[in-house]
Parts: sequence; C-alpha cells; structure tokens
Amino acid sequence: MAKLTVHALLLLPFLLPLVLAAPDPNPQAEITTTSTTLTTSSSPSTPSPTPSIICNNSPDLCTRAYNNITHLGAHDSPFVRDPSTRNSVAGNQYYNATVALSAGVRLLQAQVHFSNPSSSSSSSASGEGGGDGGVLRLCHTDCRLMDAGRLEDWLGTIRVWLEGNGNEVVTLLLVNSDDRGRGVFGEAFERAGLGRYGFVPGSTSNSTTSNSSGSNSSGSNSSGSNSTGPIAWPTLQTLITANTRLVVFIASLPAVSSSAQETADSQTYPYLLNEFDHVFETAYNITDPSAFNCALDRPANTTFSSSSTSGTDNKEGTLAQQALSAGRLPLLNHFVYLQLTPDIWIPSASGVNATNSPSEADSDVGALGRHIKTCRQEWNSSSSKPVFVLVDFYNHGPAIEAVDRANGIVGVGRVKEPVPSSSSSSGEQWNQNQAWAIILASVLSAVSLAMVWYIFRNSRCWVCWGCCGQNHPEGYYRN
Ligand SMILES: *[C@@H]1O[C@H](CO)[C@@H](O)[C@H](O)[C@H]1NC(C)=O
Ligand SMILES: *[C@@H]1O[C@H](CO)[C@@H](O)[C@H](O)[C@H]1NC(C)=O
Ligand SMILES: *[C@@H]1O[C@H](CO)[C@@H](O)[C@H](O)[C@H]1NC(C)=O
Ligand SMILES: *[C@@H]1O[C@H](CO)[C@@H](O)[C@H](O)[C@H]1NC(C)=O
Ligand SMILES: *[C@@H]1O[C@H](CO)[C@@H](O)[C@H](O)[C@H]1NC(C)=O
Ligand SMILES: *[C@@H]1O[C@H](CO)[C@@H](O)[C@H](O)[C@H]1NC(C)=O
Ligand SMILES: *[C@@H]1O[C@H](CO)[C@@H](O)[C@H](O)[C@H]1NC(C)=O
Ligand SMILES: *[C@@H]1O[C@H](CO)[C@@H](O)[C@H](O)[C@H]1NC(C)=O
Ligand SMILES: *[C@@H]1O[C@H](CO)[C@@H](O)[C@H](O)[C@H]1NC(C)=O
Ligand SMILES: *[C@@H]1O[C@H](CO)[C@@H](O)[C@H](O)[C@H]1NC(C)=O
Ligand SMILES: *[C@@H]1O[C@H](CO)[C@@H](O)[C@H](O)[C@H]1NC(C)=O
Repeated sequence: MAKLTVHALLLLPFLLPLVLAAPDPNPQAEITTTSTTLTTSSSPSTPSPTPSIICNNSPDLCTRAYNNITHLGAHDSPFVRDPSTRNSVAGNQYYNATVALSAGVRLLQAQVHFSNPSSSSSSSASGEGGGDGGVLRLCHTDCRLMDAGRLEDWLGTIRVWLEGNGNEVVTLLLVNSDDRGRGVFGEAFERAGLGRYGFVPGSTSNSTTSNSSGSNSSGSNSSGSNSTGPIAWPTLQTLITANTRLVVFIASLPAVSSSAQETADSQTYPYLLNEFDHVFETAYNITDPSAFNCALDRPANTTFSSSSTSGTDNKEGTLAQQALSAGRLPLLNHFVYLQLTPDIWIPSASGVNATNSPSEADSDVGALGRHIKTCRQEWNSSSSKPVFVLVDFYNHGPAIEAVDRANGIVGVGRVKEPVPSSSSSSGEQWNQNQAWAIILASVLSAVSLAMVWYIFRNSRCWVCWGCCGQNHPEGYYRN
C-alpha cells in the first residue's frame, strides 16, 4: 500500500460534522424537556425516613472496607451521547458525571490528553497550567474529534458534587493518554479544589497513629512513596470521617524514581496513584458479549508477589489469582464495541440492555450479573469480588442492580436520571444513522479513506483503543 501522505487534515472539517454534528431530530425540544424533568425529578418527592448513617447509598457499606465493595464505574464518563454532542457516536454515556454520581455511579473513568493551544485550532484553551503552554483536556481519542473541556473544570463539578454529598466516596480513573507527569495533574486537582479530598495510602487509615497495620503493609513511607505493596484499604466510614473521600488512579504515571521532579511531585500530590500498581483489569477490547472473561489483561508481564496475608502462596493459580493474592483490586471491563471497519470501533448501544443486565443466569451470556458471578467463582476466594466494574451507558440494564446484588444491599438516596423526551432509543437511531453515514462517507470518497487512515495512523487511533495496544503495551492508551 502506497503511503498516503495526503494533507488529510485539511479535510477534517468535512468529516468531523459527520461524526460529531450529525443532525439531531429535535435538539431544542430535547433540551427543554430534559431540564424541566430534571427540576421536577430532583425535588425530593419521596419523603423517605432517613436512616441513621448512609455511605455510598447504603447503611450496610459504612463499616465495609473500600476494597470489599463493588463500585459501579462509568466508562469514558465525560463523553456523552446527548443533545449537547448531538448524540455523537463517540459518546459512551447518556448522562454526564454528576448525574451519574447522583444515580449511584462511584467510579468515573476518563481519557485525558495534553493539548497545546498553540498547535491546536481550538481557541478555548487558556494556556495556563501546562508549563509549556498546554492544558489537560478530556478528549475522546483526539481533541479534534471529541473534546469535553478542561480536566480541571470537570474536576470542579465533581468537587461540587462531593461537597454536596458528604457521605460518599468516589473513585476517579484517568487515562494519561499523552504520558504527562504528576505535576500537571496535581495542579489541575489543586486548582479544582479536589486535592484536599484525595486519599493517601497509609495516612488516612485509622490505625496510622497507633497501630501500624496500615502503614506497615503499605510501603512504609506514607508521603509520596512508591507504594506498590498492597494498600490497607480503610472502611468507607474512615474515609468519610477523615474527609479523604476521593480515590484517584491514573493509568499510567511515570515512575517516582524517573526524575527528581517526579519524586518531588509524588510528595506534593501523594494522592495521585499509579493505577497498575494497585489495580488489574480484564480485557477491554470486546466486540462479542460472549467474550467477556475474568482473565488478567493488564498490567501485562507483571509478576505478583503474594502479600502472604492469606498465608496461601498462589504461585500456581491464574495470573488473576496471583494478582488478587498480591492485593490488587480487580476491575472488570464490561462494555461492547461495534466494529464498523477493522479500525473504527464505536461503543455499542444496541445490546446494552442485555450487556448491563443484572441477570446471573447462565443463559444470559454477556450479562453484567453473570460476568460478576463468574469471576467470583473463578477467582475462588471470599475476598475476591470485583472491586470495580466499568460499563458504557450505565443507566441501562440497569447496571446498578447488578452491583447492588454483588454488594448485597438495597440502594437508598439515589436520584433517577432525567428522562429525555424522545428517550435514548431515538437517539440510538441517530447513532446508527451516524455510523452508517461514516461508512458511506468512507466508501464514497477515497479521500475520506485517506483521511481516516491518516487519523488512525498519526493519531494512534480514534475510537478504538485496542489498536493502540501494540505501541503502548503498558496500557497508557485505553478506551
Ligand atoms: C466483606 O464484607 C462482607 C459483608 O459485610 C463480610 O461478610 C466479609 O467478611 C468482608 N470481607 C472481608 C475480607 O472483610
Ligand atoms: C449534567 O446534566 C444535567 C442534566 O442532564 C445538567 O442539569 C447539569 O448541569 C449537567 N452538569 C454539568 C456539570 O454539566
Ligand atoms: C492496636 O492493636 C492492638 C493489638 O493488635 C489492639 O489491642 C488495640 O486495640 C489496637 N488499638 C487501636 C487504637 O486500634
Ligand atoms: C513493621 O515492619 C517492620 C519491618 O518490616 C517490622 O520489624 C515490624 O515488626 C512491623 N510492625 C508491625 C506492627 O507489624
Ligand atoms: C523512606 O524514607 C527514608 C527517609 O525519609 C528513605 O531513606 C527511604 O528510602 C524511604 N523508603 C521508601 C520505601 O521510600
Ligand atoms: C479510629 O478508631 C477509634 C477506636 O477504634 C474510633 O474511636 C475512631 O472514631 C476511629 N477514627 C476514625 C477516623 O475512624
Ligand atoms: C513502583 O515500583 C515498581 C517496582 O519497582 C515499578 O515497576 C513501578 O513502575 C513504580 N511505580 C511508580 C509509580 O513509580
Ligand atoms: C483483544 O486483544 C487480544 C490481545 O491483544 C487479542 O488476542 C484479541 O484478538 C483482541 N480481540 C479483538 C476482538 O480484537
Ligand atoms: C432497554 O431498556 C429500556 C428501559 O430500561 C427500555 O426503555 C428500552 O426499550 C430497552 N431497549 C431495548 C432495545 O430493549
Ligand atoms: C476453589 O474452590 C473449589 C470448590 O469451591 C475448591 O475445591 C478448590 O480447592 C478451590 N481452589 C483454590 C485454589 O482455592
Ligand atoms: C510481554 O512479553 C512478551 C513476550 O516476552 C513481549 O512480546 C511483550 O512485548 C511484553 N509486553 C510488555 C508490556 O512488556
């Protein structure tokens, strides 16, 4: 194949509208209806007798350790398919982060890109905070394709939510797509006022001052250490009392020892935790619901030394079992892609009711409930429940029911999402139409093909992160 070094960027304005700005059937009506239903539904219409203390939507979770709870996660949470994006096919959720939190989601995942305004056509970046004039933005694969704004602005909305919901513990999982250091992330957290809520392993534990069970096992030096050892995760109540209600994982951060700057920043921002020092994940490139599994996919090529707390050395177990023995928190990736072409993958919305279903029945292949149950059996230990499950379109299924079942709770105090007028099904129709429009455009025009090729080769990839794996085996890029 000849190298198509076409100046494809010139054509971006023509293809982009297909992706991001396909016509919406009735945007005005949807917006107004959404806002009215929101105001009516968010008023406390059900006068429930408030039980004593509720943590993360249940009185039963207060005394439970953070890692003995299954947290529902919204995959690519800033990237929504709603009127604000004209139902973009690149969107993974129907509702934004704060609506998701109010509905019970407790982990928000997002891709973060470093955008240098001088090299970008986007005029919205103010240029502060990046050191070299750039700024961290929430972009889906590429800031030219889907840009959900500055990281710190999004973090600010989460801070407001946290401050309005003082008994809730929230986890963030940020993908460091452009391999930036701790400093630029830490600055965004501090400017958003979120840093003060960050959980620091070993220092928030109730036992820090006296009994050293927490600090001893979590890598000795409490501030800024590379605590790759298992963290003694506190209970929700301990996190709430200490008001360190935000757990922050980043995939991935440079090694603490890689430079003096990183060493210093790890002490300035000790709440920024390197995801794959503490978490392991199942495969994320699923196109067929029957392919969900419980095997460790990332971190790759890592040997796990058993923490020996259980006494059982699990050397002959699966990698996942070894990781569990070493105290890694398991994350189930549970979302399906629609593969349009070998290179173009978009979040699949059509089967999401079945995908996010709480059903545990063996016949419901691909259901979230079944996936969770299967992994608990396969991992074969009482302490090895999935700690995080990451889904697209979290409000379908509903996914929260599968998570409640895993936790053995009945959720209280959640706020239902506003119901859009024509509902997500009509949005989905448009999504499919957009998808076909993309294909059509690709087929009709060799130039478009060249451009798609350009995007995928030069910007790594667009919606698909599976195709990035070869170049970034550590998982810096993911969807
Ligand atoms: C996890 O929570 C369950 C339910 O409260 C409890 O029975 C179990 O002992 C806990 N496991 C650990 C390891 O604390
Ligand atoms: C999230 O969406 C809701 C309604 O869908 C809206 O009222 C709210 O302002 C949005 N929040 C942010 C931070 O954009
Ligand atoms: C510290 O540990 C000892 C023995 O393990 C226990 O008796 C004591 O109650 C603990 N103190 C606190 C404050 O947890
Ligand atoms: C903490 O670790 C040190 C060194 O590994 C060990 O000597 C000490 O006994 C430990 N303390 C506790 C309370 O386990
Ligand atoms: C802990 O801190 C001491 C001095 O502050 C340092 O010598 C030691 O290497 C640190 N240990 C780790 C594991 O970072
Ligand atoms: C720490 O433990 C003590 C006694 O076990 C308890 O009184 C105190 O409330 C706990 N503090 C936090 C922050 O959980
Ligand atoms: C922590 O140390 C481990 C092993 O030395 C290393 O593989 C990992 O990259 C380090 N992580 C960070 C964030 O420095
Ligand atoms: C997902 O990735 C694995 C490992 O890289 C690969 O073997 C598998 O074929 C991929 N699945 C799909 C559907 O591309
Ligand atoms: C999915 O479930 C929602 C309710 O949760 C329902 O309105 C919708 O029709 C269902 N979609 C399909 C394709 O079954
Ligand atoms: C897994 O569980 C089965 C039965 O539940 C038991 O026979 C087997 O020994 C367990 N394996 C491990 C490695 O714990
Ligand atoms: C893992 O090991 C395989 C085989 O040695 C190698 O091909 C691959 O590049 C390694 N991946 C990483 C992330 O180191």
